[in-house]
Parts: sequence; C-alpha cells; structure tokens
Amino acid sequence: MKTIPVNTANSYEVKIGAGLLCRLGDEAAEVCKGRTAVIISDSNVFPLYGQTATNNLKKSGFSVVSYVFPAGEASKNGSTYLSILNFLAENHVTRTDCLIALGGGVVGDMTGFAAATYLRGIAYIQVPTTLLAAVDSSVGGKTAIDLPAGKNLAGAFYQPRLVLCDIDTLATLPEDIFRDGCAEVIKYGILYDSALFDHLAEKGLCFHRETVIARCVELKRDVVTEDEFDTGARMKLNLGHTVGHGVEAQSNFTLSHGKAVAIGMAIVSRSAAKAGICSQECCDRILNILEDFGLPTAAGCTAGELFTSALSDKKRAGSTIHLIIPERIGFCRICPTGINELQSFIEAGL
Ligand code: NAD
Ligand code: GLY
Repeated sequence: MKTIPVNTANSYEVKIGAGLLCRLGDEAAEVCKGRTAVIISDSNVFPLYGQTATNNLKKSGFSVVSYVFPAGEASKNGSTYLSILNFLAENHVTRTDCLIALGGGVVGDMTGFAAATYLRGIAYIQVPTTLLAAVDSSVGGKTAIDLPAGKNLAGAFYQPRLVLCDIDTLATLPEDIFRDGCAEVIKYGILYDSALFDHLAEKGLCFHRETVIARCVELKRDVVTEDEFDTGARMKLNLGHTVGHGVEAQSNFTLSHGKAVAIGMAIVSRSAAKAGICSQECCDRILNILEDFGLPTAAGCTAGELFTSALSDKKRAGSTIHLIIPERIGFCRICPTGINELQSFIEAGL
C-alpha cells in the first residue's frame, strides 16, 4: 500500500493498494467521529462493492444507510443532488457523521458537493472505483453537479477526509472506461514526468497499477497544494481539455470525456509542433502513445465547429483562453491565447 499526504487547508491522506475496501470501516473510524456512515453510489458500482463496504463499516461500529442513483453523467444533476440532501435529512444524518463516495467521478463529484453543502459541510471519504477517479477526481476537492447550461457549473472546493483507493475494484471496469482513465494518466506523463511517460510507453495497458496511480496522485497532490483554488498552476491539468470539451460537445456527448481529452491532446501537440513549440519527435511520441492505448487522435469535425464549442469553456477569462501546450515530454507551458487566435491554432492541429 502507498500513502500520500495531501497538505491542503484541510489535510488528508490518499491510500492506494489492493484489498483496501476491507479496511474501509477502520479507516473511516479514524477520520470520522460520528456513528452513521452514508454510502452514496451508483447502480453499477453498488451491486459490485456495496455489500463489502456496508459489512466492513458495520464491523467497525457504524450504522450504515445507502443512497444509490442510476449510473452515468445524466444523474449528476440538481435533482439527484437534492434527493441526496433530502435522504440525509430524513435519516437524521448529523454534522459528525460521514458520507462515503463509492464509485467513479460522477459519484465522487456529487457526494463531495452534497457533503460540502449539507449542514454547511460534513465529512466525506472518496472511494474511487474508476481509473479516472483514482488519479484525478477523488483528489483535490473539486466537487460539482451539472446544470442544463453545462457541465460542473455548480460546485465547491471541498476536500475529503480520506481517499481510499482499492486497486482491486478496477478489475471489473469495462475496458473502454479503463482506457478513458488512461488518457488522464498519459496526461500526467506529458505534463510533469517523462519517466512516467516512458513507463507507460513501454508497458502499455499492462502498466503497474499501484505504482502508476500513486505517482499520478503525487503529481496531482503537488499541483493542488500549490494552487488549491485553481487560479494558476492547476490550470495545467486542463491539457487537452479546452479542445477536448469542443470535441465532446460536437459529438453531443456520445464520445467519452477520456477520448475527447485524447483528441484534444493530439490536436494541441500537432499544432505545437507546427508552431515550433515542441519538436516533431515529441509530438509523434504523444500521438503514438495515445494510439497504443487505443485512444483516438482525430476529431472528425472542423476547426470552426470546435472553436464555437470551445468558446463556452468555463475556463475562459473574457477574450482569453489559457491553452496548455507541450514543450517537451514532462513539461507544458500555459499560453494565454486570444479568442481570435484560437481557431487557427486548432486548425493547425487537425
Ligand atoms: P463514472 O463515474 O460515470 O464511471 C464510469 C462508468 O463506470 C459508470 O457507468 C460507473 O457506474 C462504472 N463503474 C465505476 N466503477 C466501476 C467498477 N469498478 N466496475 C464496473 N463499473 C464501474 O465516470 P468517471 O469517468 O469515473 O468520472 C467522470 C466524471 O468525473 C465526470 O462527471 C467529470 O466531470 C468528473 N471529473 C471530476 C474531476 C474533479 O476534479 N472533481 C476531475 C475529472 C473528472
Ligand atoms: N481535474 C482538474 C482539477 O482537479 O483541477
């Protein structure tokens, strides 16, 4: 098992290893004073891991209630959020009790936002069960729900008390969803760590789970500690995301987030190579690793279409968008880019 401390305003640990779900009760008791634990999960994950989590929490003296909602991004909305708050109130959950987010990023974001706002804030524990949640969404305290106008438009920065990542749960992930998480893992290599990138390039999908997840969490921890509220360095985590959001929106959200980010990273890399910001070799290595992981690198829509969708990116500041552009493997720069330059930048990378 690997333990990674996160020293944000409210500090906590991320524990990563095999079989950790069977320690959930004892771990929760360490960070939560109350006696009620509320498992929040989705309709795919709860049948797989809900019973183990419940039994284990009970063994450690918790009384356990569960709220399970239909799996998928469509549930990450105001209606599910309010249902969760009502469920907590009806079950007399108090401020010393704790919520357990058992699932992927959708469960984690929803539970975190409910925890941030119920009784003005109660404890929650992230138990990520997707690769994306393990390396990204469970760490760093961004919580949110979607609004009809766009994704993640209502939320809060609210750190968990603990992240418990049982790598065994990844075994039941559909391969396609695992690959989506790989796009985020590759992103960390491009952004910060050429040795991680090399390991991924060599091992492909057989990369060492615990070591790689722990390394990604360390990298995210470092960024989040430096910029907890996303005003500077944390923006780099958006590598591939601005253009990726455009690709996702153009597909009417039929293309997964991970695949859209892969396409976004490919487009910025090709454009960066054309502009001489990174070498052609660096760009080729990025395209090759994405393809080796079975991730797409072509958008299938025009620069104009992507430009229009990218304009609704909530990271836009007035007429400027901060593009994250690779200089070499392991280092990217933040480039404030005028809206009027964005379309030609995308065009060059298609
Ligand atoms: P998800 O939570 O929808 O999970 C994907 C699918 O896998 C779901 O159908 C789920 O039921 C299923 N699943 C989860 N774990 C499983 C398991 N172990 N075995 C079998 N099936 C399993 O999606 P995701 O990719 O984990 O997360 C995407 C969400 O994360 C988006 O809403 C995105 O906005 C959010 N996100 C948040 C942050 C953040 O910092 N808070 C960062 C990145 C993404
Ligand atoms: N996933 C982006 C962030 O946590 O900032």
